[in-house]
Amino acid sequence: MQTDFLIIGSGIAGLTYALKMAKHFPEKRVIVITKTQADETNTKYAQGGIAGVWDEEKDSFEKHIEDTLIAGDGLCNEKIVEIVVKEGPERIREIINYGARFDKTDSGEYALGKEGGHSENRILHHKDITGQEMERALLEEVSQTNNILLINHCFVIDIITQHHLGYLVTKSTNDITCYGVYVLNVNSKQIEKITAKITLLATGGNGQVYRTTTNPRIATGDGVAMVYRAKGRIENMEFIQFHPTALYEPGVSPSFLITEAVRGDGGILRNKQGEAFMEKYDPRKDLAPRDIVARAIDNEMKKNGTEHVYLDCTHMDKEKFVHHFPNIYEKCLQIGIDVAKQPIPVAPAAHYSCGGIKTDEMGRTSIKHLYACGECASTGLHGANRLASNSLLEAMVFGERAYLDSLDLIQEINGTIRVEDIPDWKAKGTGEPKEMILITQTRKELEQIMSDYVGIVRTDVRLTRAMRRLDLLYEETEELYRATKVSPQLCELRNLITVGYLIVKGAQFRKESRGLHYNTDHLEKSSLLQNIIL
Ligand code: FAD
Ligand code: SIN
Repeated sequence: MQTDFLIIGSGIAGLTYALKMAKHFPEKRVIVITKTQADETNTKYAQGGIAGVWDEEKDSFEKHIEDTLIAGDGLCNEKIVEIVVKEGPERIREIINYGARFDKTDSGEYALGKEGGHSENRILHHKDITGQEMERALLEEVSQTNNILLINHCFVIDIITQHHLGYLVTKSTNDITCYGVYVLNVNSKQIEKITAKITLLATGGNGQVYRTTTNPRIATGDGVAMVYRAKGRIENMEFIQFHPTALYEPGVSPSFLITEAVRGDGGILRNKQGEAFMEKYDPRKDLAPRDIVARAIDNEMKKNGTEHVYLDCTHMDKEKFVHHFPNIYEKCLQIGIDVAKQPIPVAPAAHYSCGGIKTDEMGRTSIKHLYACGECASTGLHGANRLASNSLLEAMVFGERAYLDSLDLIQEINGTIRVEDIPDWKAKGTGEPKEMILITQTRKELEQIMSDYVGIVRTDVRLTRAMRRLDLLYEETEELYRATKVSPQLCELRNLITVGYLIVKGAQFRKESRGLHYNTDHLEKSSLLQNIIL
């Protein structure tokens, strides 16, 4: 296949870009590829909502900017924060025009929720299933846009660059160019080539590298790993956000989220003794930024030898709770918890990757003709810790910015490389996997290593141990990769090992504790504000 615009990922970032491009060029075909079903994305599982300055009487851009900067703990790019906060409301209006419904008060105003780190109520939401509603609206708009070709069940293996044409490409090559992708058609098991003038990576997060995560199975950091292999720039991977309150259900993966909006409406965290412990840790108590709340919970669990704490909602108005959080209410009932009578057992879970593929203010990566946006990108918005509900906003703002920039870029690109000039995928010498167990077992080992040694609290020794073990997994998996026909399972494992390596490497380079990266051997913040670029 050959196309002008190729988008990998059908979450909020990919679809925002695709819709804009397709509407601008109704005569051109825009291709969106997704590795499972179109709606199986992190986007679909977003609960709390999308942050945006809406109530201009009480709220202001300055306040939202300030809150984002405080959460980011010194590492946000202030220019990017200003861009996202100021352009955000316009993007929210657009998705409302596509048909997304956000909850309203009785008087017809948008009902604005509050979450940790926000000084004002500014979260637009649809019950506790905001992401599902936004994904629905986007996919419906896509279905009415004739020139978008949405291809499901196609797994992108690698981006194509000069390397595949036989040239030496290193980190210092300054004109690395993306010509398209190699993709495994999961149904036919064939590996195909798609060339594109412009490619956008919108492949989402990487929570699956940890044993306990809120992220669905698709979140395996494929885009980050592909760019790293292609010698592009990756940054700040050590900043993994653990959501403080995932439902504690041993053996269930992914973990069901109990949105922070529950604490925004009055839910209180309590330890085994029933003590409301957050006041010991931060004056903002249960609504302190996530890094602080997650570390406090981790500490309480370790002190008390428990595997969870409790989120107490028994004092809250039951009718209001059920109205705002019907999905959570139902889920808790299914496991025998009536939130009006019993506290909810919760524990932190890996939730969001603040770092990723380094981009500039237009979503350009370090590789020519390749953009990245959404969770796989590191735009500079989140710094060392993301403010709740800023990611859906960021994805839409950068979807628009990458689109605007692409309009100029497409004029500059004369022709595209022909598919025939790209070598076919080399499958020679590879065979069917003899033992799938090798893949599943290695993946378990990886999750274990990352959770035990590279979690909320880190030390130098733990990081060294993690790296040694990852090295071994890397070697064994590369060997398997060379000998075996590629499958999504094998590619995901390989990508997850790369992501694990990047997280550990970033953590080892950062000799300080800042935001989400907390290392007890380096408790002080460094006076040098730096992004770790790998
Ligand atoms: P995604 O929505 O994850 O989409 C990724 C896409 O890439 C998928 O279509 C996938 O199939 C595709 N893909 C990946 N790899 C490949 C490959 N190799 N080949 C082909 N396709 C591929 N943020 C907020 O702002 N507010 C919230 O309330 C909120 N709640 C959340 C609750 C949960 C439980 C979770 C998990 C996250 C939440 N977040 C929230 C974070 C937010 O949902 C995500 O950061 C955001 O949706 C990411 O969007 P995206 O478009 O970048 O990626
Ligand atoms: C939540 O609803 O608590 C998640 C919000 C987010 O991750 O931004």
